[in-house]
Amino acid sequence: MAKSFLSIERLTQQFPDGQGGTLTVFENASFGIEKGEFVCILGHSGCGKSTIMNILAGLAEPTSGVVKMDGFEVSGPSLDRGVVFQNYSLLPWLSALKNVTFGVRARYPDWSKSKVEDHAREYLAMVGLDGDVVHRKPSQLSGGMRQRVSIARAFANHPKLLLLDEPFGALDALTRGTIQDELLKIWSGTEQTVFMITHDIDEAILLADRILLMTNGPFARVAESVEITIPRPRNRTEIIEHPNYYAIRNHLVQFLGTRSKELAGKKSDEADNRPETVRIDKTATAPAEADPEPAARLRAVND
Ligand SMILES: Nc1ncnc2c1ncn2[C@@H]1O[C@H](COP(=O)(O)OP(=O)(O)OP(=O)(O)O)[C@@H](O)[C@H]1O
Ligand SMILES: [Mg+2]
Repeated sequence: MAKSFLSIERLTQQFPDGQGGTLTVFENASFGIEKGEFVCILGHSGCGKSTIMNILAGLAEPTSGVVKMDGFEVSGPSLDRGVVFQNYSLLPWLSALKNVTFGVRARYPDWSKSKVEDHAREYLAMVGLDGDVVHRKPSQLSGGMRQRVSIARAFANHPKLLLLDEPFGALDALTRGTIQDELLKIWSGTEQTVFMITHDIDEAILLADRILLMTNGPFARVAESVEITIPRPRNRTEIIEHPNYYAIRNHLVQFLGTRSKELAGKKSDEADNRPETVRIDKTATAPAEADPEPAARLRAVND
């Protein structure tokens, strides 16, 4: 089997449970992500999503298992991996603009000061921040603005892999929609690979090529990989008309509502827990039409 761009192999994470015992968050979790793919992960609170992301970012070491990107083992943080944290941690003593230029300067050390600043401003503008606002410190910004700075900071560095931990959690519905569109635009114009945690099923269907579903912990598993068989470009008002939309949505709701609990807490004997691929396609009338490279892979977005 060809190796994926990002390959997660037999990842196990244990923590002390605070009572002298051990909490096994997940065990032997294995999955791959292809270059340029947009993958979302859904699962209940506490199942281990942020833990996986911190390991992918190189910010935490798993108890056992390895993560490889482009064939090289991930160890420690790198400018090739951009992270937007659940709590959008910005450097509090720097302005919004400087929070972005800080990383850009490290990424492109030979750029002039004005080029770095223009580049940072471009990404801040993309997420709707321009004018005097960019000179404010994080404490002087609203939660949604801070989150947008954090998104601009991650994107401006053009990482090969973008790791997003509920990046739109603190945004109002309107801003959320705008930034989802911006994210799709940036992603579709680059070779970037995105791994994103979200609690929002509709957001995941709109954005993802594939949704990974996690069972509840302890001993959580990435149980399924659900293909989003809705072609791009996708538009939030139009995708709900697609024959696959509610079929996929119902499957996700059912998993999160029932099966994530039924499958929870079971220690597995498998040495390699790989997710089962789920493909729901009501438009495929005959097996001959089951195209292995469907239009869903096309990278384009609606303006
Ligand atoms: N450093 C740590 N020490 C001990 N336990 C930890 C540590 N970090 C996480 N955990 C535990 O690991 C489990 C998974 O945590 P994690 O933050 O990955 O969950 P999550 O899926 O991201 O949840 P949420 O959706 O609420 O953000 C939880 O039970 C949590 O209490
Ligand atoms: Mg989390």
